Amino acid sequence: MPQPDVTVIVLAAGAGTRMRSATPKVMHPIAGRPLVWHALAAAAGITPTHLVAVLGHGREQVTGFLATATDLPPVISGVQEQQLGTGHAAACGLDALRARIGTVSGTVIVTSGDTPLLRAETLELLARTHADAGNAVTVLTATVADPTGYGRIVREADGTVSRIVEHRDADDEQRAIREINSSVYAFDAAVLVDTLPRVGTSNSQGEQYLTDVLALARADGHRVGAVIADDAMETEGVNDRAQLAALARVLNDRIVRRHQLAGVTILDPVSTWIDADVTIGADSVLEPGVQLKAGTSIGRDCRIGPDTTLSGCTLGDDVAITRSHCIDARVGDGADVGPFAYLRPQTVLHHGAHVGAHVEIKKSTIGPGAKVPHLTYLGDAEVGAGSNIGAGVITANYDGVHKFPTVIGEHVFVGTNSTLVAPVTLADGSYVAAGSTVTQDVAAGDLAVARGRQHHSRGWVLRRRADSRYADAARRAGAGNGAEQPAGQPDGADDKDSPA
Ligand code: UD1
Ligand code: MG
Repeated sequence: MPQPDVTVIVLAAGAGTRMRSATPKVMHPIAGRPLVWHALAAAAGITPTHLVAVLGHGREQVTGFLATATDLPPVISGVQEQQLGTGHAAACGLDALRARIGTVSGTVIVTSGDTPLLRAETLELLARTHADAGNAVTVLTATVADPTGYGRIVREADGTVSRIVEHRDADDEQRAIREINSSVYAFDAAVLVDTLPRVGTSNSQGEQYLTDVLALARADGHRVGAVIADDAMETEGVNDRAQLAALARVLNDRIVRRHQLAGVTILDPVSTWIDADVTIGADSVLEPGVQLKAGTSIGRDCRIGPDTTLSGCTLGDDVAITRSHCIDARVGDGADVGPFAYLRPQTVLHHGAHVGAHVEIKKSTIGPGAKVPHLTYLGDAEVGAGSNIGAGVITANYDGVHKFPTVIGEHVFVGTNSTLVAPVTLADGSYVAAGSTVTQDVAAGDLAVARGRQHHSRGWVLRRRADSRYADAARRAGAGNGAEQPAGQPDGADDKDSPA
């Protein structure tokens, strides 16, 4: 567990030039959360006494995000107006903390906002090793196949860490070192406070490097040590979009595995993307091509996919969603959706509801056991228990300026291809005939028929399309021989009637 007095400072002020983005680097999301969230969440995992984020480039965006991040503990924001280097950034973090609490004591852990795979367990190991070894500085390192771009860990002949050299400042011999600086450190607070002001800028970038604190502390006679991360991936930083995608892949693998070990069947981990905060009940099955985005929670025994995206959705148990796209929808126990359904925000499906193919629903409630099986749009509608909405039914909820509600009671039967012109109410147990355009409320138990009556021009084809294949077909079927009298009410030949 955490040391008695541990502060974590997350450095997140850099511009992230290599991202080539208008968005500050640490606000780029992976697994549905900004990079800086991952860094802060890992830090929060060791329950530090204080949690500090040093912000600079694009800090309005970062503070705006932090204000809404209810899943993080309170964060003290330090400001680094100009990005003069990681050493300067750490000093800005200490300044913010001192302004809040006075003297800083104990252990100060510094991490980077762009290192999203770092786990709390690893921070804890770092803090423990730091304390057990009585170090003044302990750096988390990793041995990697390609150390290009990273600071290298230079060790003495006896194996102790002597200093860190940045890639761009390193000579060939140093560049051959494959042990890299993760930019995660534990410092004795007093040593950090004492050495930071002495960090110079004589390096290729003219910046104040936090890495220089190691050599300064060592020169002062303090113990400097290192913890080599078991999994080098944890120390990888995001500096460009290729690394962003690579680390997102690794984080996703981790998340998928966590759900698998918790009892979720995930048929194709490679094509399944799950955001960090998603919850899934045991014995649920994810088919290939599923994306579960932030704010989604899924109950037990659900079957999702293939090729389905859920964002901000809450699903009960035993729900099936096939090839569909759903945003901010709630789906009750035993309901099923799709294929090819589009559930938009504020859609609520109660238990056992059925939404079928090519159905779009927005801001509507579908009652228990109600069915919307095919080709329908429902907007601003309420559908009661057990009602059946026929194929092709559309709520005309928008007059170009305002939206209006459609209220459909329990056990209502709406015939296919009907248009319900809102505001309109269909009371419990009412019927709407197929093809109706309903503009008036329908009372309980009534049948509304709101369509043109069918009429027939007897023998029209034989007269007006006499030499056509249509007329031939009609004659073959007996038309014109006086024997035929099909269903329908002849209305007296109206030769002017034309379908065209
Ligand atoms: C840094 C380390 C390098 C290490 C690598 C690991 C230094 C000098 N170098 O290099 O040894 O191998 O991380 O990923 O520390 N930041 C600020 N203010 C600044 C500069 C940076 O807040 O003035 C923040 C950035 O937002 C970022 C972190 O510090 O979160 C690291 O900065 P970055 O520019 O990515 O450093 P690297 O070149 O990756
Ligand atoms: Mg970096």
